[in-house]
Amino acid sequence: MPEEHPLIEMEREIAGGDFQRAGDVSSELKNILQRAGFPPAFNRRVVIASYEAEMNVVIHAYRGVFRARVYSDRVHVEIDDQGPGIPDLELAFQEGYSTAPPHIREMGFGAGYGLSNMKKCSDVLVIDTRVQEGTKVVMDFFLSPSNS
Ligand SMILES: Nc1ncnc2c1ncn2[C@@H]1O[C@H](COP(=O)(O)OP(=O)(O)OP(=O)(O)O)[C@@H](O)[C@H]1O
Ligand SMILES: [Mg+2]
Repeated sequence: MPEEHPLIEMEREIAGGDFQRAGDVSSELKNILQRAGFPPAFNRRVVIASYEAEMNVVIHAYRGVFRARVYSDRVHVEIDDQGPGIPDLELAFQEGYSTAPPHIREMGFGAGYGLSNMKKCSDVLVIDTRVQEGTKVVMDFFLSPSNS
């Protein structure tokens, strides 16, 4: 069966360390989803997970590309970065675990809840990471019959 064509496609660069523009990409996706008329509860979980993934590039990586494909009944998001990679994924998923340095924590980041939040908010989460190369996060969100 051929892949259904997305209603909307989005591709944006994310710059590591750029706290001025941090969060802009997930805000843009939020606007797109709102305009598309998806239920607020659905949009919320897509945007929360996307924001966490975007911030992980800003905080932990050098640069990344954010891609979203919006379909009538689901949203597909990919965040592909060049960065240090994640040596121990199981450890990284633990709530409260963070390698964020003190100056990042002073800005209010680095509580160590981003990955677990992404897992809670998404229906499918796949992470492919290579130390000293980068990390690719793929998430799918399905619009459920209960509309969220
Ligand atoms: N894209 C990434 N590249 C390299 N390391 C990452 C990446 N994403 C997460 N990590 C590693 O996994 C750890 C846990 O990530 P997580 O998002 O759960 O917490 P955090 O980013 O440290 O803090 P928070 O998300 O609560 O602000 C990070 O501290 C970091 O060591
Ligand atoms: Mg994080």
